[in-house]
Amino acid sequence: MVNYKDLGLVNTRAMFAKAVAGGYAIPAFNFNTMEQMQAIVQAAVETKSPVIMQVSKGARAYANGTILRNLAKGAVEYAKELGCEKPEIVLHLDHGDTFEICNECIDNGFSSVMIDGSHLPFEENIALTKKVVDYAHQFDVTVEAELGVLAGVEDEVSAAESHYTQPSEVIEFATRTGCDSLAISIGTSHGAYKFTPKQCTVDPQTGKLVPPPLAFNILHEIEKKLPGFPIVLHGSSSVPQDEVDTINKYGGNLPNAIGIPEEQLREAAKSAVCKINIDSDSRLAMTAAIRKHFAEHPDHFDPRQYLKPARENMKKMYIHKIVNVLGSNGKLAE
Ligand code: G3H
Ligand code: 13P
Ligand code: ZN
Repeated sequence: MVNYKDLGLVNTRAMFAKAVAGGYAIPAFNFNTMEQMQAIVQAAVETKSPVIMQVSKGARAYANGTILRNLAKGAVEYAKELGCEKPEIVLHLDHGDTFEICNECIDNGFSSVMIDGSHLPFEENIALTKKVVDYAHQFDVTVEAELGVLAGVEDEVSAAESHYTQPSEVIEFATRTGCDSLAISIGTSHGAYKFTPKQCTVDPQTGKLVPPPLAFNILHEIEKKLPGFPIVLHGSSSVPQDEVDTINKYGGNLPNAIGIPEEQLREAAKSAVCKINIDSDSRLAMTAAIRKHFAEHPDHFDPRQYLKPARENMKKMYIHKIVNVLGSNGKLAE
């Protein structure tokens, strides 16, 4: 058994309470590689921001759970080495889909887990979530649950709306499960293709595609039902057009990649939304920098030559999110 406190990590409880009260959101960045970890820590230290480093099932399969846990331990030590006396770093399991995976992560140094029972019927989601909560809370590990299903890119808007979180269910769900935070569905989705061009309108001035707005009415209803309760938004990459353009310019093929406009995320961060998940934007920043580097330096073959600009580009993106979108800069406890 490895307890997260021995690794210098923290859970999300105090962090979320402060973020909800302060009208900002904590960044939850997915990581799979050492370069992502370094960029996340550098960005968090430079901006004095708390941060959630999250690991998906795919990340564990790619990089190995033990290695990722030690990278998170290294992240705490690295943050201190960079001058941050008391870093606030959470190691979080993203989209845990079974009790066993959550259990294994809790036993191996994670300070927070998500149990994603969103695809299950209501009662089954409650039962599975409560089982994870009961186990996790013995070790002071916090639990994120999910209610409502995020849209797939193939869904029409009308079909997607039917999967939105139903505000009428949230009080019973939160009370009966005892979860610490709740991921909701209000129109975000995973990946770099969040909307089809058909779902968007065209801005007459710029000619650019404008995605449909998030369902802020549902978010506000949920806030009224659960005052001060921490809400999580998944699928919150904004798919920066300049990164997509760079990728396409240097041999990539990402036609019509569309994300969530940052002004909507900025608005969400001021509400009870206190954790915003970003993965795809990091992938785009890394890929754009590497493609550009290869195009400009066809003779390079040392991974350090192209991973360094990739790391710098991710760091720039993380800092931008923290400072200009989530507002978590300067929020570390004194
Ligand atoms: O929610 C999904 C995250 O972006 C993780 O993606 O399962 O490909 O690691 P992944
Ligand atoms: P994006 O694909 O929008 O980055 O979402 C990531 C996410 O929700 C991870 O759980
Ligand atoms: Zn997600």
